[in-house]
Amino acid sequence: MPAPSGGCPKNMVMGPCGGVRANGECELAAQPCAFPVPERWADPVPAVPLRSVPLILTDFTSEPYSAASHRSVAAVLAPVSDAVLVGDHQRHPDFPPALLASLLQDVGARPWVTLTCRDRNRVALEQELAALHHLDVDAVLCVTGDGRPRTRPGAAPVFDLDGPRLTALAAAAGIPAVVPGDADPMEAEFGIVAEWTAEVASQLGPDYAIPAACRGSAQPAALDWLLAGLDPAPGALLVDVGAGLGGPDAFAAAEAGIRPLLLEPEQAACRAAAGLFGLPVIQADATALPVADGRADAAWSPGVLCTLPGRDAQLAMLRELRRIVRPGGRIGLLVYVAARLPLDDPPEGNRFPAEDDLDALVRKAGLAVLGAANAHRMSAPPADWRNRIEAVDQEDRLLSFAPAAVTGARLLKGRAKGPFGRKDLDLRCCRLRH
Ligand SMILES: C[S@@+](CC[C@H](N)C(=O)[O-])C[C@H]1O[C@@H](n2cnc3c(N)ncnc32)[C@H](O)[C@@H]1O
Ligand code: SF4
Repeated sequence: MPAPSGGCPKNMVMGPCGGVRANGECELAAQPCAFPVPERWADPVPAVPLRSVPLILTDFTSEPYSAASHRSVAAVLAPVSDAVLVGDHQRHPDFPPALLASLLQDVGARPWVTLTCRDRNRVALEQELAALHHLDVDAVLCVTGDGRPRTRPGAAPVFDLDGPRLTALAAAAGIPAVVPGDADPMEAEFGIVAEWTAEVASQLGPDYAIPAACRGSAQPAALDWLLAGLDPAPGALLVDVGAGLGGPDAFAAAEAGIRPLLLEPEQAACRAAAGLFGLPVIQADATALPVADGRADAAWSPGVLCTLPGRDAQLAMLRELRRIVRPGGRIGLLVYVAARLPLDDPPEGNRFPAEDDLDALVRKAGLAVLGAANAHRMSAPPADWRNRIEAVDQEDRLLSFAPAAVTGARLLKGRAKGPFGRKDLDLRCCRLRH
């Protein structure tokens, strides 16, 4: 990865890439994106039209470097998919893309093949395009690729082309080329960075997992306060809504012997949580929980409610929490609330209720407030907890993404102002009853 010093760490010519952060900063370095406005083509290449637009495009996941597995998965998908999307994953390298396409075609699947500029230079990409053209594939998805440094020792990213120029090469070779849409900031923050955090924590050792995986700014004092309010019997089913990497759940399982079930919308976070702690995880949104009425003994949700975009969604989440918990069961919330309104420069995509508005929402959802406390006034995390978080945050890859993202919340942009974030936000812990 070249040193940024104001330049583009991915050597893009036709920038920007899809990873520019909401505030205009580079996704990989603490600097503004090198492309304040998109570059324009001097000599555009005409697009090659798609033969047909697939109604069902299925993601293809199989065992890397296993022709037998690729064929058997593709044979299942082929009859029910108009096309299958073959990825190009840095963490799970596989056969060259053209060989993958040919294996899938053998069993009747119609591959859309991803090519990234991260792991192949221009010559290798031209070779792949020639082979894919020979195979007459329906489409090639051309992406620049993410810029994770040092994912594998000794394997450096290439980036001598970028996604737009690769797209032009594909079109010039006569292949329909497709490009990704806008990056989703929630996915970047709560999916991609969460997964990187989990990778770093597991490399550092088991003691790092729980502190690193508490991404809602919950720390032992707040978690203990919430757990005491839930009063769970050993073996009780505790549903965590917006579980992220599941740090609070691993903490609760160790402290109170409860059985956690993690619900989390970001696929990468689900994968990472399952890998870190081996706890059951289901991909789900807080406003439509895949849990039967009254099935949970208790539920909690640290640092999630304020990441829902509006009052209606927040109310729907609270109603879902009430629905899934048995009558009389307890619910714990940790919510960033606005200490004063309006907030200056409010973080995008979040809604911070004032304290009284939060209480009104809770009542409207049919829940009773048993107690509340300000987590900012609880005892600070012990030194070893803080040191472990610091060690994880110090990892190059996470630092290079941007410190605000490492803490796991846009709302913590102002983290430097205090251990828990902005001065105009309080961190409210609530004990609720169904
Ligand atoms: C600040 S993190 C907290 C994660 C975890 N609760 C913790 O304390 O470590 C916020 C989490 O809320 C999740 N989230 C955002 N929108 C959500 C929604 N609509 N439904 C459920 N979870 C959501 C995010 O994916 C992310 O994992
Ligand atoms: S955001 Fe993307 S295009 Fe912009 S400087 Fe960073 S890597 Fe380059």
